[in-house]
Amino acid sequence: TDRYAVIGNPISHSQSPFIHQEFAQATGQDIRYEKLFADIGKFKEVVDAFVADGGKGLNITLPFKSDAFRYASELTERARAAEAVNTLTFRDGKVYGDNTDGVGLVRDIVENLDYPIGGQRVLILGAGGAVRGVLEPILEQKPASLTIANRTVIKAEALAHHFARYGKVEAVGYDALDGRSFDIIINATSTSLNNEMPPLPHGVFTPRTLAYDMVYSSGLTPFLQRAQGENAGMLADGLGMLVEQAAESFAIWRGVEPETRKVTNMLREVLA
Ligand code: ATR
Repeated sequence: TDRYAVIGNPISHSQSPFIHQEFAQATGQDIRYEKLFADIGKFKEVVDAFVADGGKGLNITLPFKSDAFRYASELTERARAAEAVNTLTFRDGKVYGDNTDGVGLVRDIVENLDYPIGGQRVLILGAGGAVRGVLEPILEQKPASLTIANRTVIKAEALAHHFARYGKVEAVGYDALDGRSFDIIINATSTSLNNEMPPLPHGVFTPRTLAYDMVYSSGLTPFLQRAQGENAGMLADGLGMLVEQAAESFAIWRGVEPETRKVTNMLREVLA
């Protein structure tokens, strides 16, 4: 039995053990997957102990994705671009770091929601770690345009500059969205967690806009309520992204791609 875990602080509410155990069962893989708590500042000690104990891989959640980035000895391009790691693999004395958040988001949009990103006008709200983790895979899809709006404009500008080598990124404040509309609007701010929403001007949603909140919740977040009120064409929360990023991690570790739809539906029922 190979051992895996998700490490974070807090960690008690993580759905990752459920997701990975379902994947393992469906694909006949013999794994164990636990939750691992680490005190702030103790990431390295806790991971060292997990590896010494024979652990084969870790998922990393808040607030340790930068620590995991520094812990890795080998990095994929998308992890390097994100400067954040959510998947560690321990093999042959090496530590491989990857970031599956962006591909999880892209697959949820393109495959599950059947909404293309290529050729579309994409708007991302926020400029924190959640955005940094997904920009490179989104740019890989070749959107017609990619705009980052953030309350603190200088943070959006820094991200646009950092990712310029992967594609053109425009950085703006919320005021500058007045009079513009987009095909895909992704809320990657932390506002939904506080039952708030970003200060979006009216008119950014159209009847064919996909409104996507990276946070998942049982009801509509304020951002999705607003999108619904403005007749956005499609609404989605981040549950599909959560399951897709897990599936990509599972595939990295086990070499098999699990089905995601059933697990997402099960989680949806559990969370309802
Ligand atoms: P993370 O790394 O998890 O994304 P973060 O770095 O704290 O967390 O980023 C939170 C994001 O939510 C930021 O883009 C933040 O905007 P600022 O950079 O201007 O702080 C955004 N955010 C949080 N509360 C917000 C609010 N009430 N309105 C608009 N944006 C908000």
